Amino acid sequence: MTTFGFIGTGHLGSMLIKKFVETGAIEGAAILASNRTAEKVERLAEATGIRPASNCIVAELSDVIFLCVRPLEVRDVLGDIAYLLNSGKLVVSVAGDVSLEILQSLCTARLARAFPSMASLKLQGVTLLAFGDNTTAEDRRLIAGLFHAIGHAVPAEEKDFAVLADLTSCAPGYFAALMREFVLAAERRDIASELAERLVKQTLLGTAMLLEEESFAGLIKSVATIGGITEAGIKIIQREAPGMFDQLFLATEVRHEQVRTKIDGHG
Ligand SMILES: NC(=O)c1ccc[n+]([C@@H]2O[C@H](COP(=O)([O-])OP(=O)(O)OC[C@H]3O[C@@H](n4cnc5c(N)ncnc54)[C@H](OP(=O)(O)O)[C@@H]3O)[C@@H](O)[C@H]2O)c1
Repeated sequence: MTTFGFIGTGHLGSMLIKKFVETGAIEGAAILASNRTAEKVERLAEATGIRPASNCIVAELSDVIFLCVRPLEVRDVLGDIAYLLNSGKLVVSVAGDVSLEILQSLCTARLARAFPSMASLKLQGVTLLAFGDNTTAEDRRLIAGLFHAIGHAVPAEEKDFAVLADLTSCAPGYFAALMREFVLAAERRDIASELAERLVKQTLLGTAMLLEEESFAGLIKSVATIGGITEAGIKIIQREAPGMFDQLFLATEVRHEQVRTKIDGHG
């Protein structure tokens, strides 16, 4: 039986463990997990049946190790356990901006990068996947299968990860921020914010379901009759939003560059 290890049980690590166990993709008993603050992993163990351990034990006893620490923590964590991570192990890093090249300079394990989304809490998240040259077809099948169990696994070029992660991992936050502005604008028109938020949330859920069978352009066409009210609103969005989204990509690009510089400078 394959043993799976998780190093780091923060927001993302604990979400992955909970969803893999809940969906039956991995049995709790097949998971070893470690975290800097031990109480966090112990609480998770009580809820999921996983086995708490130290980073070294996780690295030693697991066949597949999910590295779920922050990007600037990766060098230190791998530095301590690199001697255990040989080509017999598959390491899957979820750390943004830590390239396969950097990871490979830190250990000799087979390597993959995964960039999940918290939307996998609802089994709907997109996880971007990139694999090192030293991975096997079986590694790729195994990891894609696990992320399919909690959403959608999408292979991607590593060079595109930053922009694609804006569309997948950051997007729930962006959508929420946009809808919050919509609600606040209604509030400025004397609609109670609780009512506006409830109506927008419900409409957003309905819209997401319509989009299962419809493109964005198709949905706009079916809602916005020519010369009608919706069309007037859509023209404003089409005028104002391109600049905003271009600026959004520029801002996240700058942030990625800052993080990469820190990673290159060893934190
Ligand atoms: N959150 C997301 O939506 C998301 C999406 C895609 C990718 N990611 C990636 O996921 C990674 C984790 O993000 P997060 O949001 O889960 O951050 P987080 O909540 O801060 O979790 C990081 C965890 O790593 C633990 N940790 C730190 N140093 C450690 C060490 N030496 N040994 C063992 N555990 C250690 C921390 O322990 P403590 O309890 O002591 O702090 C913490 O629980 C990041 O690299 C991020 O780029 C996150």
